[in-house]
Amino acid sequence: MNGDRTPVRAAVFLGPGAGFRVEDLLLDRPGPGEVRVRMLASGVCRSDLHVLDGDWERPAPVAMGHEGAAIVEELGPGVGARPGDPAAGDLVVLAWTAPCRVCPACLRGEGFLCADPRGSGQRLAASEVRLRRPDGTPVGAYSGIGTMATRQVVAAEAAIPIDPALPAAEAALLGCAVTTGVGAATRTAEVRAGETVVVIGLGGVGLSAVMGARLAGAARIVAVDRVAAKLELARGIGATDTVLAGDGAATRAALLRLLPGGADHALEAIGLAATAELALDVVRPGGTVTLVGMTPQGVRAGVDIYDFVERGIRLLGCNYGSAIPAETFPELARHAAAGRLPVARLIEERIGLDDVAAAFEALRRGDGARRVVVFDPPA
Ligand SMILES: NC(=O)c1ccc[n+]([C@@H]2O[C@H](COP(=O)([O-])OP(=O)(O)OC[C@H]3O[C@@H](n4cnc5c(N)ncnc54)[C@H](O)[C@@H]3O)[C@@H](O)[C@H]2O)c1
Ligand SMILES: [Zn+2]
Ligand SMILES: [Zn+2]
Repeated sequence: MNGDRTPVRAAVFLGPGAGFRVEDLLLDRPGPGEVRVRMLASGVCRSDLHVLDGDWERPAPVAMGHEGAAIVEELGPGVGARPGDPAAGDLVVLAWTAPCRVCPACLRGEGFLCADPRGSGQRLAASEVRLRRPDGTPVGAYSGIGTMATRQVVAAEAAIPIDPALPAAEAALLGCAVTTGVGAATRTAEVRAGETVVVIGLGGVGLSAVMGARLAGAARIVAVDRVAAKLELARGIGATDTVLAGDGAATRAALLRLLPGGADHALEAIGLAATAELALDVVRPGGTVTLVGMTPQGVRAGVDIYDFVERGIRLLGCNYGSAIPAETFPELARHAAAGRLPVARLIEERIGLDDVAAAFEALRRGDGARRVVVFDPPA
């Protein structure tokens, strides 16, 4: 402790093209409605890479990371009064959108579209910043949680207690990849038992979509990636068929050979216009396309409108697996504990905070599933 401030190490995004650096910072005590957490684990998601590459407009400096599990250390004023509030010592999964519960989207049950999420945004306003450099420069927290940090202060609504039996590295993945991918299949697309599903892109999100389709009882799950090792991983968690992606026409033909007439569902989990278009081409008349992967801002895809309308295709956007974190995280943790979601299979490697740069390079190559930063216990 340094007065009222706690020392923290964090991977700090320095601006588009400027990269990031692991820095020593100081963390304020939690304000009203906030909690201080000690991070146990943080996944490395492609969305962090989008930020690093300047694909999305984001401010700097911010502590990166939005997929984390932590232990609650200190409650700010007022926390503990409401049902569901975290308590000191709880294992929590951090939500990158913490619904306010009162805006029109929240009242519709669509908290993932909350207009005023608590603790989201980059929190760079002076009153909201809890992290500072030793010289006093404010440092924000990506999505309000900045999980690539040894400690953080987050909104209480963003810290969701789950079954403490789940290993921390697996719990971290519930914070983004698993919730998004499983939810894309089960909550956004609403895959039904017996249906056929194509999943395009097998990173943490796409592999989770394969698990979600399996959980929903899909009869055929066709997994597509350009990296052969990903296809093996997908088979291990429930894909019934795989296609090694080549050029678009060859991939389309291979998919339609496997599912003549097209699939009930196609989920895109990369974030490319070409594969979003491919997804539209491989569903049956009346089928559903769910776009999960995110492109750089402003990218558009082409739709053959005549064909789209005549075939009665449904096109859905999936934000955070249509999750309500306070309900969805504990439910997914129960599925994981019961062996219905093999979350551990998503973990390629446990790494340290200083290995994050190498993890981003591996993501670029499509090498391996999820890499997870595991933080050392306090000395
Ligand atoms: N909608 C949401 O709420 C949400 C949440 C989290 C992540 N995302 C987005 O989902 C996407 C996937 O995230 P991730 O962390 O799983 O990424 P990832 O990089 O781990 O996975 C992408 C996969 O796509 C494969 N791939 C790349 N180009 C391909 C091609 N042309 N054909 C076939 N396969 C190809 C790669 O080999 C890799 O396996 C990203 O765009 C991310 O920003 C969206
Ligand atoms: Zn809201
Ligand atoms: Zn993510």
